[in-house]
Amino acid sequence: MRVCGATACFAAQAGRHLPAIEGVLGVTADDDRDPDPEVSLQTVRCLGYCYGGPAALDGETPCAGPDVVDQVAGRVRPQAPPIPAADATGDPVVLAGIAAGEPPWRTWADTVGRRTPELVQQEVAASGLRGRGGAGFPVAAKWAAAGGSPDTVVIANADEGDPGSYADRLLMEVDPARVLEGLALACFACGARRGLVLVRSEYPQALAQMREAVERARADGHLGRRVHGSGVDLDVEVVAGAGSYVAGEETALIAGLEGGRGCARARPPYPTSSGLWGVPTVVNNVETLAAVPWIVSRGGAAYVRRGTPGETGTKLVCLSERFTHPGCYEVELGTPVRRIVTELGGGLRNGAELGVLQVGGPLGGFLSEQVLDVPLTETELAGHGAALGHAGLVAIDDRIEPLEVLRHVWAFAAAESCGACSPCRVGSRRGLELARTGEPPGDAYARMLRVMSEASLCAFGRRLPPAVRSLVRAYEDRLRGWGG
Ligand SMILES: Cc1cc2nc3c(=O)[nH]c(=O)nc-3n(C[C@H](O)[C@H](O)[C@H](O)COP(=O)(O)O)c2cc1C
Ligand code: SF4
Ligand code: FES
Repeated sequence: MRVCGATACFAAQAGRHLPAIEGVLGVTADDDRDPDPEVSLQTVRCLGYCYGGPAALDGETPCAGPDVVDQVAGRVRPQAPPIPAADATGDPVVLAGIAAGEPPWRTWADTVGRRTPELVQQEVAASGLRGRGGAGFPVAAKWAAAGGSPDTVVIANADEGDPGSYADRLLMEVDPARVLEGLALACFACGARRGLVLVRSEYPQALAQMREAVERARADGHLGRRVHGSGVDLDVEVVAGAGSYVAGEETALIAGLEGGRGCARARPPYPTSSGLWGVPTVVNNVETLAAVPWIVSRGGAAYVRRGTPGETGTKLVCLSERFTHPGCYEVELGTPVRRIVTELGGGLRNGAELGVLQVGGPLGGFLSEQVLDVPLTETELAGHGAALGHAGLVAIDDRIEPLEVLRHVWAFAAAESCGACSPCRVGSRRGLELARTGEPPGDAYARMLRVMSEASLCAFGRRLPPAVRSLVRAYEDRLRGWGG
């Protein structure tokens, strides 16, 4: 049994579901002393049911909802509602299939053998599309950096580790062919003959859908040798991830695919010059790839008209269970966060007051009610110490004490730090120890935050201190001293 202890599920019942599940199963979570238990319980951080949690996975059967404890105990039938999804732009890009019924693979069939890889790269460059996995790197520049070698591998990053985000799960389970079409176009633009999809093991249904979609694509001639009568050979393999948050960071993801531990490594070399087994490797997020068919068929100029001049296009946002209308919505970049929260989300359920809003997952940040007019862009959110990330919006209502939220943030950090570098390995555990005492921290804590943000190997350790500071700012004087 895997039970989610991540932010949206924590916010649903202030974390009470986990001890209750331990109670009904009669086991302690993450206790591996019994080598052959009848039931074992593992805490995981996000199962992609953040809109209807708390959530658990019994084998491969999802259980989600306010009565998750009864479901797990077998007192009521397991249930997991489908992801509510809607377009709020009037002309969906990423949800073109799901919200507008546009069939997949048309752009691929029109492109392969008729257009050149350079043309595809040019359209994507003209669109201004940036990676949607969190780092926001320009997509066409990454493709160009791989250099066009036929050894290039393009990896669809479907690790979706950010608690609060389930956009990639939606795309893979409901419109997997569009993700594959985007991957095929990316491979074509990079001159690659091989694509990989790394799906996190916490998403068994998505894994099955992606595998089935690859089989169908092969049977329909979208993949294979001499695709659609062209000179292009392309095959795609779907691989299950091994769990953990950091395993979604691109160098950690590559290490995992090579059979090693999912730990990040120093860059350079960047994966585009030396990635999987030393060959040029392009890693793109699932949502990034799902935007590519629209851009190639409508043209980069059409995409530039969406969003803001500095940050073009649309973005999927995921609203957590505390909202009246939780779900995955496609919005234009630049939409005020308040509009998303009130008009799409309908505010908080049962008239609850917002404590803080987490935007962009554990490496993003927290906003208070007062600053929700901020437009949803990387630049504007950065001005408030937050980040766009994968655009999960997790509402934490005012029933939960600020110190509990702080402890939750440090507990996530301590559990998910991969341990490859000392500032983050030691700092995340020390942060949790201090937060557990609840005593106002001193200068050593402030120094520790500085060392973490300056000396950590990857963005996990570097982004945690700003995320903590944004939480402290959002709660104003209720967490004084904890920002370092
Ligand atoms: C700790 C950490 C975890 C990450 N997890 C994910 C993830 O789950 N999915 C993802 O697409 N990108 C993740 N990323 C970002 C990837 O390293 C990489 O930038 C991204 O997959 C590139 O795709 P994009 O350019 O299309 O966004 C993570 C980064 C860090 C630092
Ligand atoms: S910063 Fe943290 S997650 Fe990143 S390499 Fe160091 S220990 Fe691992
Ligand atoms: S399912 Fe629990 S936070 Fe996503």
